[in-house]
Amino acid sequence: MPNSLRLAPSILSADFARLGEEVRAIETAGADLVHFDVMDNHYVPNLTIGPLVCAAIRPHVKIGIDVHLMVEPVDSLIPLFAKAGANIITFHPEASRHVDRTLQLIRDHGCKAGIVLNPATPLDWMDHVMERLDIVLLMSVNPGFGGQSFIEATLPKLRAARQRIDTFMNAGGQSIWLEVDGGVKADNINRIVAAGADTCVAGSAVFGSPDADGGYRGVMNTLREAARSL
Ligand code: DX5
Ligand code: ZN
Repeated sequence: MPNSLRLAPSILSADFARLGEEVRAIETAGADLVHFDVMDNHYVPNLTIGPLVCAAIRPHVKIGIDVHLMVEPVDSLIPLFAKAGANIITFHPEASRHVDRTLQLIRDHGCKAGIVLNPATPLDWMDHVMERLDIVLLMSVNPGFGGQSFIEATLPKLRAARQRIDTFMNAGGQSIWLEVDGGVKADNINRIVAAGADTCVAGSAVFGSPDADGGYRGVMNTLREAARSL
């Protein structure tokens, strides 16, 4: 089990009219990353934000921006997001014609690279690209919307992914983060972390529970405490 859990609030559930304030508030509350959901109304049936918005929030926070691309095709957006200040770029491998090339492209642009596996997408997509991965993101809902319920089948999948990553790292491979996205709440985060996740995205759980002053310290502390209560 990882020592320090990374929390990545997803701004999909933030107030888009006050995005600068919202990302500053999650940083103040101890967020490790800003999770940035990019949807194209093609790969997923929803439309969100692009590189311009990434560049707009970049000066507001020091923490990394974790760009989750739910787009098809993938490659042409990578240089744009790198230029806009992204630190991590993940994509759904079935949306790229050449997964190995896309992973290289992300690193060539100075970002950490990763693949995102939908609930029904097998872990086997990791097999031949382990050296090119900085992060693996397991979706615990079907991508496209915030506020959905956590799919329980993600737990054994997380354990299996943890095992693959540990085996790889113990054999001298580089460090690979294991992130989970969708339906993460205070009442399930301990099981998610126990199953091997070291990075948790939380959208509606964070932005749906502001403190009286509009900040997010309370909910972020609740999530961290819940993650420790094994
Ligand atoms: C869903 C997105 C998630 C979403 C999570 O497609 O990738 O990042 O914002 O939202 P919650 O935490 O509300 O399930
Ligand atoms: Zn996401």
